[in-house]
Amino acid sequence: MYEKRRKQILKHMDKGSFALFSSGYAPKKSLDQHYPYFVNRNFYYLTGINQAYSYLLIIKGVIEKTILFVEKRTPERMLWDGVVLTFEEAKEISKVDLVMPNTVLDTFISSILSSTRAASYGPLDNVYFDFQGNFNIREFAEEYSEKLKVNYPYLKHHNLNSLLSSLRSIKDKEEIRRMKEAIKITDEGLNLMMKNAKPGMVEHELEAYFEYTLKKHGVTVSFNTIAASGPNGCILHYGDNNRKTEDNELILFDLGVYKDNYASDISRTFPLNGKFTELQKKYYEIVLECNKKCILFAKPGVTWKELNDYAKDILSDGLIKLGKIKEKEELSKYYYHSIGHYLGLDVHDVGPYTEPLKENQVITIEPGLYIAEDNIGIRIEDNILLTKDGSINLSKELIKEIKDIEAFMKK
Ligand code: GLY
Ligand code: MN
Ligand code: MN
Repeated sequence: MYEKRRKQILKHMDKGSFALFSSGYAPKKSLDQHYPYFVNRNFYYLTGINQAYSYLLIIKGVIEKTILFVEKRTPERMLWDGVVLTFEEAKEISKVDLVMPNTVLDTFISSILSSTRAASYGPLDNVYFDFQGNFNIREFAEEYSEKLKVNYPYLKHHNLNSLLSSLRSIKDKEEIRRMKEAIKITDEGLNLMMKNAKPGMVEHELEAYFEYTLKKHGVTVSFNTIAASGPNGCILHYGDNNRKTEDNELILFDLGVYKDNYASDISRTFPLNGKFTELQKKYYEIVLECNKKCILFAKPGVTWKELNDYAKDILSDGLIKLGKIKEKEELSKYYYHSIGHYLGLDVHDVGPYTEPLKENQVITIEPGLYIAEDNIGIRIEDNILLTKDGSINLSKELIKEIKDIEAFMKK
């Protein structure tokens, strides 16, 4: 799998070149504490290695070679931080040609660029990096590129980032399998919350049932859970989760799971007391209709703009029929985000957002309505696999019909 992906990169590279990627590391938080480590997604995509301070070198010279540089296992490291992959394990996972200690990366790069060693690979005049350019920490790629410019001014520097984004947006069987697993655990956690919901609970008390489910399965959230009751449902990225809920309120959950580095991203909205009020039902039915129609509408060839416009038409028609708004333009008061995004290694995954949808992409469909004056926030989000001529709702097992939610919560 990883070898096949690297072949795509190799195909794109000029003869007489090399490419260099880094896994990243956890930023420092205080003296000897670090923020959680989150492997660089493109590095993981090309290696399957989820370990800090690892580097991938792909050489396309007279001969081709792929080398992984990883931390060397030492007794001290094992005592303090636990297991580091052995070189054999790293090779087995990634299927690279060679694994070397990360301490020799710089000397190795110098050697392939020196006039003597260059003989085995031939002259290397091009270097490829993954310049991601959208993070506020200085990236490995930028730094290394600057360093090489000083000593090897003749090298031409190229960016592989958009190629990687396009490749990553098309999912293979294993990626889809992992996302299905993530969705299954999300479903279990949501059901446990619905079973235990009662008015008067604080939002995080209910969230705890979701967290419990994740811990049981040994997985983590794919982003901070949004547990937004009553008026908080109208705050798109609400995350305090500390409000005491009341009777006759809805709670909007937007949450997901990382299973083997692949994300689910689901939203469900339900009444804390198990029964929708008449007004809640009216708004909920509009969002649900939009969710279902957009899922049917999503297929290869459709653009994000078409999907967004289609969703807005359904939501505004619904509100006009209800007498809530008079003109389509007024919808922006009650719906103020877009219909979805690609999903994969990242929750808001990379991909060609300006191009039409393609087979084997996975996207979210997540319409909502946010009626602040009625303390009602509703979002219904599913995860959709695009097929040759349509789509499959990967989260179709997660109940969302009013009658199914009410029947389930009554039990
Ligand atoms: N959880 C953020 C989103 O649904 O896109
Ligand atoms: Mn979401
Ligand atoms: Mn989403």
